[in-house]
Amino acid sequence: MAAVPVKKAVFPVAGLGTRFLPATKAMPKEMLTVVDKPLIQYAVEEAAAAGIEEFIFVTSRGKGVLEDHFDHSPELMAALADKGKDEMAAAIKSWLPAAGQVISVRQPEPLGLGHAVWCARHVVGDAPFAVLLVDDLIHADQPCMAQMTAAYEQVGQNLVLVEEVPAAQTNRYGILDIAEDQGDFVKVKGFVEKPDPKDAPSNLSIIGRYIFQPEIFDFLAAQGKGAGGEIQLTDAMARMLTSQQFHGVRYQGERFDCGDKLGFLQANIALGLSRPEFQGRLREFLDARLKAETVS
Ligand code: G1P
Repeated sequence: MAAVPVKKAVFPVAGLGTRFLPATKAMPKEMLTVVDKPLIQYAVEEAAAAGIEEFIFVTSRGKGVLEDHFDHSPELMAALADKGKDEMAAAIKSWLPAAGQVISVRQPEPLGLGHAVWCARHVVGDAPFAVLLVDDLIHADQPCMAQMTAAYEQVGQNLVLVEEVPAAQTNRYGILDIAEDQGDFVKVKGFVEKPDPKDAPSNLSIIGRYIFQPEIFDFLAAQGKGAGGEIQLTDAMARMLTSQQFHGVRYQGERFDCGDKLGFLQANIALGLSRPEFQGRLREFLDARLKAETVS
C-alpha cells in the first residue's frame, strides 16, 4: 500500500535559546538571521519545497514575532508599491504561506522536545507528519525535507535524518543502534538520547528532521523524563520500535548547528559564499583577513 503523503510539519520553536544569549534575551532564536533570512524561514521554505501544506509552530511566550513574520503585511506592501519596488514585494509574496496554513499551539512549560511535539497532537490528528528542528540549518541542492519525503515514498513508516559525528560528541545527539546499514538508509533497532561516548551504540546521530506516523503521540503521551530531566522525543521513538519500523536517512548537503554560536558564524560565511552577489567580495575580504591574521 502506498504511504499516505506528508502534508503537515511541526516546528518546535518554544525554546529559550539560552545558548545564544545575549542575542536571544528579547528575540526568539529562530529569528536569528543567516545572511538575510531568519532561521525559521529557511525551515518553512524547506518544508514547503517538500509539499508541506500545514506549518504547525509549537511556541511559547514571547514568540509572537514568528507568527508576524509569516503574516501578510499590508502597510509594507503598500510602501513597496509606492516606491515602485514591485520585485521586492513579489519576492516576499513568493514565500508567504497562504491564509490558514500557519497554525500555532503553545507549549505551556519547557518540558522537553518530546513534550513540545506532543503539544501539536490535536492539530496533526491522524496523519503522518514531519518535524523540523530550526537550529539545524541544512544547505543542500535538493532541499533536505524533499530528500526525506522521497525516502519516505520508498521505505514508508518512520524516518530520521542521520549523519556520522565524532565519537567524542555522541553526548550531544540522539544516537542510532543500527540493525542494518544499507548505505542511503539505515534500519534502526534502537535509539539512545545523548549517550556518553563509552555507552554509545554507534556514532550515527539524529539530525533535526523526522517523519512520523501519528502513533508516535501514543508513545509520547505516557512518557516520563529522560536525559537532562526532559521528556525526550528520542525515548518515544525507541519505544515505538516495538510496533513500527524506523529508518535513518543519509542526505546530500551540509548541516550547520545554528543553535551554537560557532555553527551560526560558519553558516553565515558558507551561505554568504554561496550567493553570487556576495561571493567575490566576501572571498576577497576573507582571504585578506586570513593573511593579515597569519602575519600578526
Ligand atoms: C535534539 C534531539 C537529538 C538530536 C538533535 C539534533 O537535541 O533531542 O536527539 O540529535 O536535536 O539537532 P537538542 O539539540 O535539542 O539538544
